[in-house]
Amino acid sequence: MSRILTGIQASGRPHLGNILGAIEPAIKLSQNPENESFLFIADLHSLTTIKNPDLLKENTKAVASAWLACGFDAEKNFFYRQSKLAHFHTELLWYLSCLTPYPMLANAHSFKEKSDKLSDVNAGLFTYPVLQAADIILYQAHFVPVGKDQKQHLEMSKDIAASFNRVFGELFVLPESLINEQIMTIPGVDGQKMSKSYNNYIDIFLSEKELYKQIKGIVTDATPLEEPKNPDTCLVFKLYSLIADESQIAEMRQKYLAGGYGYGHAKKEFLDLILDKYGNQRDLFDYYMADSAALEAKLKVGEEKAADIASDTMKKVRTLLKFD
Ligand code: TYM
Repeated sequence: MSRILTGIQASGRPHLGNILGAIEPAIKLSQNPENESFLFIADLHSLTTIKNPDLLKENTKAVASAWLACGFDAEKNFFYRQSKLAHFHTELLWYLSCLTPYPMLANAHSFKEKSDKLSDVNAGLFTYPVLQAADIILYQAHFVPVGKDQKQHLEMSKDIAASFNRVFGELFVLPESLINEQIMTIPGVDGQKMSKSYNNYIDIFLSEKELYKQIKGIVTDATPLEEPKNPDTCLVFKLYSLIADESQIAEMRQKYLAGGYGYGHAKKEFLDLILDKYGNQRDLFDYYMADSAALEAKLKVGEEKAADIASDTMKKVRTLLKFD
């Protein structure tokens, strides 16, 4: 039995990058009866950037709804908000912080990038990877499916877990990241990594009209409609290919090469494909967003189950530290 664990921040509604990079791979793994999955909403992490509790709550609901809409079986597995188990996560964060070398955090790509861009560079942003390590090892996870942007954070988690084992005694499983080489980093509508913070994302749960507006924003070159186009350098084609099947991809490739097919046509086909492929997910997402009680009930059960595991780990940690 392997333990699979991954989290999504509540810093916005989940976008196509989150869905293809983490949600779908994690749910696929959770469907293997050999695995036990811990999928959670990293709302404590989101406090590093969001200071509006109402917004944080709404985003948390959206991330939880997206997990369920994409097919996560919350009863069979573990489904929870990090904030509801905050005492376990943050206690472990402290012990791990005391084992984490300052330069490891100071050199983290994600911290450097965020501290260059954001005006609010707080201590939470700095210790972010240590909380992430705590999230993972608290549940003794073996594998962590994530997008490529999280590779370094996962290496740190493994190093931090190994330090604990070396200094205080063998306790933690050393987690491995699972990064799908074909997916890796999903680009946004401007060609940079799709991200909430770059405002370049595609939110498949939006109304058709709003979704089409986002898709129309995908950057293309100025090749006239009549001329043949290169699918391999086109962002619309790239995004379409990420969710289309092989025959759909081959068909669109032919249309690009033949000419008389504009980027506007490709964008409309991309919209139609999302509406078709994610129709059920879109309905379920709306259902959970509208029915807070149904969502809350699933989370409550998951949080009680997760608390049993977390509490067991923390007892062992405290014993090794001779606090108990
Ligand atoms: P977050 O919320 O930024 O992203 C959630 C997941 O989505 C993946 N992802 C992408 N994958 C491909 N292309 C993209 N453009 C893209 N954008 C996001 C991320 O790689 C991630 O897997 N630190 C984590 C949250 C976290 C966590 C954890 C993850 C907190 N604790 C413990 C795993 C284990 C984060 O920022 O995710």
